[in-house]
Formats: sequence, structure tokens, C-alpha cells
Amino acid sequence: MKVRKAVLPVAGFGTRFLPATKSSSKEMLPLVDKPLIHYAVEDAIDAGIEQIIFITGRGKRAIEDYFDISFELEFHLKFQGKDELVEQMRKISDMADFVYIRQKEPKGLGHAVLRAKDVVGDEPFAVILADDVIQNGKSGTKQLTEVFDRYNCSVVGLEEVNPDDVSSYGIVSGVEIESGVFKLDKFVEKPKKEEAPSNLAIIGRYIFTPSIFEELEKTKPGAKGEIQLTDAISSLSKREVIYGKIIEGKRFDCGNKLGFLKATVEFALHDENLKDEFEKYLKEVVKC
Ligand code: UTP
Repeated sequence: MKVRKAVLPVAGFGTRFLPATKSSSKEMLPLVDKPLIHYAVEDAIDAGIEQIIFITGRGKRAIEDYFDISFELEFHLKFQGKDELVEQMRKISDMADFVYIRQKEPKGLGHAVLRAKDVVGDEPFAVILADDVIQNGKSGTKQLTEVFDRYNCSVVGLEEVNPDDVSSYGIVSGVEIESGVFKLDKFVEKPKKEEAPSNLAIIGRYIFTPSIFEELEKTKPGAKGEIQLTDAISSLSKREVIYGKIIEGKRFDCGNKLGFLKATVEFALHDENLKDEFEKYLKEVVKC
């Protein structure tokens, strides 16, 4: 069955970016000129996704407005003769069919995904976290749907992380069945370095069979009272095979300030209109 729907949870508080996220959404922070959420939607579209299901919360109106038609803006741009920009703006709202579901309280990523149960229904679906931006030309979600199409099982995106960083991730282990593709057997949320089964970390791209919803319904809140997605994946692995695929490309964790800054620099260095002057400027700054 084709993966047609993607769930994009955006209801978190983004506390690592306070005060910037006090009244606006972390997912609307821009890398050069596109907000993080735009890159996440492109990742979905490039994988053939037709419907985007946002899990939103208080203070996230800007995301709905971004993917809607802005009549006033289009009128203003047309009046100024900027037809190309009008077309560019219209393309954003035409990217997919957008659905919005509220998560009344941010009770964790697992809780956010569970909110999509009725809209997803009985079919496989993707989950995309806008924090993780992948730069390499090939969509991370597409890399996973290719594995899903071969095995018809849930697939999580993986990255080999520095062993000192395992305590920041859901860590897995398993048997490599083809280059970069693993049949997984262990799932541990944020383990200590000594207790980690490997350095393979789950990153923000997933494909799930609908059985994940039953597991999420049974998952009890863990640390900080949040329902963890990794706990539900771990219990799903007891009844269905789960695969992991190392995502090719350079991933930036834009959920923290340093990762976001690194991504900003690299995306600017790849921007045709900025790169030459920006590189020159960076060289000057670093020399000091
Ligand atoms: P994070 O763990 O990065 O949380 O969530 P956060 O609130 O966004 O950021 P910090 O940690 O406070 O700085 C990962 C993703 O899951 C979503 C977030 O919006 C983010 O895209 N999420 C998290 C929800 O939608 N609901 C939740 O209850 C928690």
C-alpha cells in the first residue's frame, strides 16, 4: 500500500529557543528564506505524500497562515507587478492537502502522533519532525518509503551518532540485512553511554503501519509525564518487524541553537545569490 499521508507534529513549546518561541513557533524559524516547516513539507512531497496532517497547539497560527492563500499579499504583489512572487506564494498553498488537528496539551511526541489516528485511518503513514533538516537532494521520507515498499513494515530513519551523544536520542540495535538497512531488535530512549546497545540513533523520519496507534494507546507516560514515541515503537516491535534505514545526507538538528546556526550557515553557503559574498564575509569574521 502506498504511503499517502504524513503527520507533522508541531505542538511543542520549543523551550530551547526561548524567548524567541514565547509568542511564535519554532517551526517558523527560517533557514535563509524558508521556514523549517517548509523543508519538512518538501521532504514529504518529494516522497509522494498527498496529505499533510499537522498536529498543532496554542500559538501555532502562523503555520496555518503560511500554508494558506494570502489574498492581501497576492493582491499587493500583483499591484506591484511582482507576478513571479505571486506564483511562488501560490505554490506553497498548492503543495498538498493540509489538515490541522489540535493537541490541547503537549503531552509528548507519542501523544501528538496518536491525535492523528482517525484522520490517518487504516493505512501506513509517515511522521516527519521539522527539527531535523536533511541536506542532500534526496528526501529522507522518500529514502524510508523505498524500504517500506520492499518490506511492508514500519521503518525508522537512523543516523550513526557520536557515542558521547547517545543520551540525547532514541537508540536502537539490530542486524544489517542490506547496506544501511537494519532489522531492529532493541529500542532504548535516551540511554546512558554505558547502557546504549549501539550508536544508531532514531532521527525525525518514520514510516508506521497503523498498528502503532494501538501501541500508543497502551503506552503509559514516561519521564516528565510525556508519552514517548520510542516506547510505542519498542512495544510494536514485539508484534511486527521494524526496520531502520541510515538516512543518507547531512542532517541538521535545528531543534537546538547550535544545530540551527550550523544549518543557517550551510544553507546560506549553498544559496546561489548569497554564497560568494557570505563566504567572503565568514572568512573575514573567522580571521579576527
Ligand atoms: P521536542 O522534543 O523538540 O520538543 O519535540 P519541543 O517542545 O519542540 O522543543 P524543546 O525540547 O522544548 O526545545 C519534537 C517534535 O515533536 C513536537 C514538537 O513540536 C517537535 O516538532 N511535539 C513535541 C508535539 O507536537 N507535541 C508534544 O507534546 C511534544
